[in-house]
Amino acid sequence: KVYPNQNEASVDVAHRIASIIKEKQAKGETAVLGLATGATPVKVYKELVRLHQEEGLSFKNVTTFNLDEYYPMKPDADQSYVTFMNKNLFDHIDIPKENIHIPDGTLAEDAVQSFCEAYEQKISSLGGLDIQILGIGRTGHIGFNEPGSAPNSGTRLVILDDLTRRDASRDFGGKENVPTKAITMGVGTIFKAKEIILMAWNEKKAEIVKKAVEGEISSDIPATYLQLSDHVEFVLDQDAASHL
Ligand code: GLP
Repeated sequence: KVYPNQNEASVDVAHRIASIIKEKQAKGETAVLGLATGATPVKVYKELVRLHQEEGLSFKNVTTFNLDEYYPMKPDADQSYVTFMNKNLFDHIDIPKENIHIPDGTLAEDAVQSFCEAYEQKISSLGGLDIQILGIGRTGHIGFNEPGSAPNSGTRLVILDDLTRRDASRDFGGKENVPTKAITMGVGTIFKAKEIILMAWNEKKAEIVKKAVEGEISSDIPATYLQLSDHVEFVLDQDAASHL
């Protein structure tokens, strides 16, 4: 879907999420949301906060799983995805704290694998993700599934691509300060979501969007794996869609 601008697109995505939450509420069930960070979903979260504050949308029956976190990373650091999510969404809604899940960047390296297995298990035990929202990195990563990621990969510790670290360098005051690793849900984890929405805005994403949508399916560009799924939607603004 191509929208005239990211505002309209983001509002539509937020309303899709809100309708899943309400459907689940009506049945007395939990809505399980897969969430993303980065600049891309910020306006989606802004609209969800508005729906909560102005239209009484409740998040009491919502459980969330974030895609990824830098490793190592302290949760209270400015650049952590915990801080990002609190600032952009969680601090402003009525979601119970125990329903929020974000990969733990403070673990010892030998504890990461069992954490990742438990993360997968928690998602499955709740019946899987009802929806996963995604941005796309210029390497073609989804979450932090960098080139080389397997289509059936699970939640795991990964090494970040140089371009990804360069793109993050402004947040960290220099590439040398960007962590070299991250914990990310796998491509396989993302694929199990009942619905997947990848969003991209601006001309700087146009080339990678074209490759993701029209390119040969390859581990060189993990977002191309999305071509294999029948429940994926790309939500783009005109600039991000301009090379299609
Ligand atoms: C980071 C995140 C991704 C995100 C990507 C794009 O690498 N781990 O989940 O999609 O950045 O970021 P932005 O939305 O800021 O362009």
